[in-house]
Amino acid sequence: MIIAVDGPTASGKGTIARALAAHFGLPVLDTGLLYRAVGYQTQLNHGDADKAEDALAACDFPDSLLDDPALRYETTGGLASRVSVHPAVRKALFQRQVDFANQPGGAVLDGRDIGTVIAPHADAKLFVTASPEERARRRHAEMHSRGVEVDYATVLADIHARDARDSGRADAPLTQAHDADLLDTGEMTIDAAVQRAIALVEART
Ligand code: C5P
Repeated sequence: MIIAVDGPTASGKGTIARALAAHFGLPVLDTGLLYRAVGYQTQLNHGDADKAEDALAACDFPDSLLDDPALRYETTGGLASRVSVHPAVRKALFQRQVDFANQPGGAVLDGRDIGTVIAPHADAKLFVTASPEERARRRHAEMHSRGVEVDYATVLADIHARDARDSGRADAPLTQAHDADLLDTGEMTIDAAVQRAIALVEART
């Protein structure tokens, strides 16, 4: 069973993907981490994330980088969104994601283009979303709890910028697959969203 979970930043898709993986006993891949690793490695190389050749050179990052806490930083998310517009970068990361999706027994993957590009044949596809204001509110609260000093307006502006870049790029833009179920988590607790996600997957499989 392959489950594709796509959606914009701070929609809850990562939490939902991990909960689905635990519920159905499947391995899970957060594909955003791969783009974050490329973005971060580009910076370590003193490269420019907006230059395709610099970002491509960073695609052979060491696997150990995937465990680096720096990948979780907001700034790294911004770098990831910049390197992910380059088709050469998407191509370099493609096979690794396809192999993960097609492993025997199945898998859960979360990202932006899982249901459209990486696993268009997935058994269940969820498009997880919430309004930019709600996502900014969550991201702001989460950063605040980690002691990061940032104001809400800055977080909201960053969310708008990332949405525009992820949805506006030519190659594999963030979009709901025609056969994906929409899950708007805006009015839901995370527990309710997870229960709804499980029910949607069960209805498809
Ligand atoms: O999901 P996360 O916020 O970690 O992703 C970071 C960035 O990586 C996204 O803003 C997006 O630009 C890019 N990404 C992508 N395709 C994916 C996963 C992430 O382009 N499948």
